[in-house]
This record gives sequence, C-alpha cells and structure tokens, in this order.
Amino acid sequence: MDPQEPTIPDGARNLSGDTLTAAVLASFSHCASDRLTEIMSSLVRHLHAFVGEVQLTEEEWASGIDFLTRVGHITTDQRQEFILLSDVLGVSMQVIGINHQRPAGATESTVFGPFFTANSPRYANGDDMANGAPGEPCYLHGSVRSLDGAPIPDARIEVWQADDLGHYDVQYDDLESARGRGHLFSDRDGRYYFWSLLPTAYPIPDDGPVGDLLAAAQRSPMRPAHVHFMITAPGYHALVTHVFAEGDHYLDTDAVFGVKSSLIVPFERHEAGIAPDGRQMDRPFSTMRYDFVLAPVAAE
Ligand code: BEZ
Ligand code: FE
Repeated sequence: MDPQEPTIPDGARNLSGDTLTAAVLASFSHCASDRLTEIMSSLVRHLHAFVGEVQLTEEEWASGIDFLTRVGHITTDQRQEFILLSDVLGVSMQVIGINHQRPAGATESTVFGPFFTANSPRYANGDDMANGAPGEPCYLHGSVRSLDGAPIPDARIEVWQADDLGHYDVQYDDLESARGRGHLFSDRDGRYYFWSLLPTAYPIPDDGPVGDLLAAAQRSPMRPAHVHFMITAPGYHALVTHVFAEGDHYLDTDAVFGVKSSLIVPFERHEAGIAPDGRQMDRPFSTMRYDFVLAPVAAE
C-alpha cells in the first residue's frame, strides 16, 4: 500500500472518505496476482477520487449504472458497445499508444474498429476488391518495407472499408459476398496494388447508448474517410492501421480520436482515361499511394 494512504483506524467499520478508500484498497492488497492488485488498487483510487471530485449525486450514480446496463444489453456477438464506449472515451487509443510503441520510421497504428471479419476473400494484385460496392473507383497501391527500406514480399494485407453510403458490407443484411473487403499479398518487390473505392466519411454506430452519450455531449459521431489495413509478415509486428483521405472535413474531430498525421495521404482524382495499371476507365477515378513500414520483432 502507498505509505501516504491513511491506515484503517477501526477495522473495516465506521468508514467514509479516505478511510473507506483505504479499506477497499486493503481488500484488494492480496489478489491472486500482483498485477491484479496493482490494477484494482489504481482503479479504486481513481474511481473514489472521481466520485469525490464531482460530488456524485445518487441520481447521477443511478443514471451511470443505467447507462452501463444499456451498454451491456445492446452488446451481442455482432455489436460490441463496450468497445465503442472505450473508443469514444479515447481509451482504445491510449491502450494502442502504450502497446504499439514502434521505432521511428515504422507506420503508426490506430483503432481496429468493429467491422473486421476473418476469412475475407483472397485477391491478386490488380484485382477489384469493391466487388460491386457503390462508390467511385479508387486504385490503391504502394509497398510494404522494413525499417531499412528493404521490400517485404508475401506480406498479408487485409483491407476493409465503407462504401459511398458510409456502410461496411457487414452492415447490410442481404449481401451474399464481401464488398470493399479482402486480402492480398505483397509481390516479390514488396509492392501491392488493387482497385477498391474512394472512402467516405461515416458515422460510428450511434443508435445505442454510446450514440446517446455523443448527442448529450454535442459531439459528432463522424469518422473521417479512411481505408483499414492490417498487415502481417513473419518476423514483423502486425500492423493495424488506416490510411486517411487528405482534406476530409472530419480529420480533426474523429469520434474515436484515431487520426495520425503520418497516416493522411491525398486521394487524387482523375477524369476518365487511362489508369496507372493501363486500365481504360470510362468514369472518374482516384488513386492513392501509401508505403507501409513494418517494425521487426527482434528490434525490441
Ligand atoms: C471504424 O473505423 O470502422 C470504427 C472504429 C471505431 C469505432 C467504430 C468504427
Ligand atoms: Fe472504419
């Protein structure tokens, strides 16, 4: 126990304020693991300090309990409202910051989000991952490299994104196959290239208690336009990140605080004509280039 914490004067009776906090801390001082003691002690200290700082009323305490109950009730295998709550409180990004510190030059991480699915379809470089999703075609290309600039061949690149209505394929009830989602592998020179969609800004799911909280806080549920990437290669740390569209209206007000300057690139617009891969496009399209840098596991 911290030597500055008051001792419990009278066993575990007649407790209030600091002596109550000390009694609860003492009750967690012999957890099955030292780490659990550390976590529960800090949690209790911060919770008690919070209740004291805001002088929480009984109505406010009850409405907090009701809010968490609603978060639990709406959570299913398909919808994780607790993670969404963690996202809008900035806790997810704090956890990522602590656990994904990488050497300078490595691509930064950001939130995973709820729309990843395992077993996405496999594509070859040059294919179209949009698979019929509505939106303007976009040619995405670049490379996967290590810190010294050496290409990483055969890196697995998972991609997922929303269509131009701001919906991921998994948000539709009636789709038979993935759209705006898939995986491919970097080629022997570490390059990747594929077609998908120009991403659009969209709101996080805001029809539940987290949406109510954002509304009460007069906060926007919007995320700036982005494409999700998860890149894995043997010998390197897995990278979970997004590429954000330069100029997006919501870059500085992301509902989940996930934007990093190093992840923002232009999505350049082109009129109908010849695309970089030689394809004849009969309508306007965009191009985006991003070079990912993975951190080797051995570097730490
Ligand atoms: C997303 O970008 O898919 C996302 C991230 C956090 C919360 C909701 C959505
Ligand atoms: Fe997203």
